[in-house]
Amino acid sequence: MSCCVIVGAQWGDEGKGKIVDLLAERADVVARYQGGNNAGHTLMLGDEVYKLRLVPSGILYPGTTCVLGSGCVIDPEVLIEELDGLEQRGIDTSGLRISGNAHLIMPWHRIIDADSELMLGSLQIGTTRRGVGPAYADKASRVGIRVQDLLDEKILRAKIQTALSVKNVLLRKIYHQRPLDKEALAEATRGYAERVRPYVADTSLLIDQQLAAGRKVLCEGAQGTLLDLDHGTYPFVTSSNPIAGGACAGLGIGPTRITDVLGVTKAYVTRVGAGPFPSEADEERSQLIREHGGEYGTVTGRERRCGWIDLVALRFAARVNGMTQLAVTKLDVLSIFERIEVCVAYRLPDGSVTEDFPAHQSDFHHAQPVYEQLEGWNADISGVRAMSDLPPAAQAYLAEIERRVGVPVGIVGVGPRRDQTVTVRDFLRAA
Ligand code: GDP
Ligand code: IMO
Ligand code: MG
Repeated sequence: MSCCVIVGAQWGDEGKGKIVDLLAERADVVARYQGGNNAGHTLMLGDEVYKLRLVPSGILYPGTTCVLGSGCVIDPEVLIEELDGLEQRGIDTSGLRISGNAHLIMPWHRIIDADSELMLGSLQIGTTRRGVGPAYADKASRVGIRVQDLLDEKILRAKIQTALSVKNVLLRKIYHQRPLDKEALAEATRGYAERVRPYVADTSLLIDQQLAAGRKVLCEGAQGTLLDLDHGTYPFVTSSNPIAGGACAGLGIGPTRITDVLGVTKAYVTRVGAGPFPSEADEERSQLIREHGGEYGTVTGRERRCGWIDLVALRFAARVNGMTQLAVTKLDVLSIFERIEVCVAYRLPDGSVTEDFPAHQSDFHHAQPVYEQLEGWNADISGVRAMSDLPPAAQAYLAEIERRVGVPVGIVGVGPRRDQTVTVRDFLRAA
């Protein structure tokens, strides 16, 4: 039995999708534990590109069971579009199972997400505007509509009616929008129900049975540690718990079942949306990284802000996730630089220097990065497949990450394709 969590160690888009796809070859179950279609995971298999938003990144392997756990929020329209798209490309989706306890993103969530951002003006979070935050807010307020509600038309209608009696007032009076039509909405949602019904299952039980039978389960996180609602850079975060602990709540498994935690980090840092970012590069070098790394959002197409690897934040991510290994992706992108900055500490407003992630928001907002400069390797490494074939400067770069973070590097990404990977340690070893 093994149950490994794959978790983003930064602000999302670390390349989790590629790593999960890679490891899924030897897994029996791949289970998403939180988030919704705010996520965008790009997988490259040869020249074929797959952009997944909801469906777990194990879907490309026939016979792998893919799970959307109760911690996810699901926009049925997006889910169906994604399933149709995959099926049109010959991908079998019959192995997908969706928790009946997962909450639905409804049309009012999307409107409220977009309009509340507009109302925040310069204070906006820069959400993906997919309705994710408002759907989780309704879940916490215990007025959400769940996947299992789709299965009973009477319950579904009653819940839509109850929700709209409040949401339509909000939409009209606060957001100056037209109210939503209950009949049209109930009808559309009923249509989704028929398409989604075959996938609905008790996914907590399913995972438990697989683990009991000695199978391998990968828990797939979306977003990343610094976007975590409790431990990230609040309020510039997402509304769920991407950290490894979120896998237990979001899948319905106990913490004692988790055997390994693989933190995925880029060899540099990116961030989409607003919020503090101490190691953000100057405009010229940010632009260089963006161009060479293709750093544009999968979901919104927005330019990602780019900067240097932040080992203070990465040490923090190692701590809150209990990481057992690291996957360092996109090392090839740094090949353009003669010298590479590495953020090893923060200078705080009171003049002190710390290697520990600040607990107080003002300290983090005003933290100045303390850089160490490392030699670049300035060579094309996209064809390298063994650690020993990496240029010495690239090996030294990885060794410095290991040394300062205290977690061994198990996987290194040298290109977007599944095969452009250096495996240093076998992550699914004893499994
Ligand atoms: P995720 O949300 O964490 O799955 O990451 P995204 O898919 O949003 O963003 C990562 C991007 O980097 C995708 O376009 C991947 O194809 C690409 N990628 C992943 N690993 C590597 C790598 O090692 N090198 C390069 N050049 N690109 C990579
Ligand atoms: P993946 O899974 C990067 C960011 C948004 C915004 C904040 C809140 O591809 O790594 P939300 O729509 O979640 O309420 O937005 O979180 N964000 C992401 N950034 N990658 C993601 O997902 C993200 N999902 C949300 O840009 O700053
Ligand atoms: Mg992404």
